[in-house]
Amino acid sequence: MMVSRLKNREQGTGNREQNVHLRVRCVATGAAMMVLLLIAGCRQDMQNQPKIRSQRGSELFADHRGARPQVANTVARGQLREDSYFYTGVIQAADGYREEKNEMPFPVTLDVLKRGQERFNIYCSPCHSRVGNGLGEIVQRGYKPAANYHDQVRLSQPISHYFYVMTHGYGAMPDYSAQLTPVDRWAVAAYIRALQLSQAAKVEDVPSGVPVRSLKEIAQEKHLPEGFAEPWTLPATAVQALPNDMKQGNPALAPTGPADLKITIPQSKPATAAAK
Ligand code: HEC
Repeated sequence: MMVSRLKNREQGTGNREQNVHLRVRCVATGAAMMVLLLIAGCRQDMQNQPKIRSQRGSELFADHRGARPQVANTVARGQLREDSYFYTGVIQAADGYREEKNEMPFPVTLDVLKRGQERFNIYCSPCHSRVGNGLGEIVQRGYKPAANYHDQVRLSQPISHYFYVMTHGYGAMPDYSAQLTPVDRWAVAAYIRALQLSQAAKVEDVPSGVPVRSLKEIAQEKHLPEGFAEPWTLPATAVQALPNDMKQGNPALAPTGPADLKITIPQSKPATAAAK
């Protein structure tokens, strides 16, 4: 408005009537803005409400603490975890200590196993490999060999142990409680059992009438590289951040399982020595 007025003056083209009109409009706008500013200044916003800021004191409570302790014998909504075995994977034994159980807290259906397989392949196979021999891609590049699910120690562990390991981590293995909900952790544990069965399966285990084909045959048919279905060891190029020392109780190097397991346990020597 001001600009157009100036322009009018400079150019000497504006007439009186127009200028008066403009002046009236300017005064009206200015007044409206003043009113708006006044209203805004008086507003009580939500940010001004009487609330407790974290870690600050409060005059409301007798102990003057703003942060309130939990009320005894109450449970927050959505945090009632009555089935503690489902959430922890352990029960309290008679002697008061925690105990793992070889029991699923809910029935295992094909859907559960499929979900477990999917989650396992995402979160566990990078280290444990898709067959669970502990020689996944990350291990091939130098991470501490992950547990081989097919060795005697892992085969004899109760199923809830796997849940417990996923919840709390184990040695060099980080925990997966943030990535996997309890129900998913159980599904993965069930799938590990399926892997253990599948890797030690014999022809007799297959129901009669179901055709059995060798992995070699399937690999050839699908034009996969030779040795695709064979067991593998750590490549000589794998960098071992930690020495593979049996005395340290490295699970991937634990004694071999049943003789018929088609899994190769890595040598207990560092890769540099093995490369010779
Ligand atoms: C980053 C690599 C890595 C990933 C990913 C990983 N693990 Fe592990 N896992 C390990 C290593 C390494 C060990 C051996 C721990 C040690 O000896 O320090 C191990 C050990 C284990 C053990 C054996 C524990 C025992 O009592 O001997 C189980 C069971 C296991 N992992 C399950 C899982 C499951 C299930 C997942 C997926 C949710 C998973 N791991 C993902 C690296 C990994």
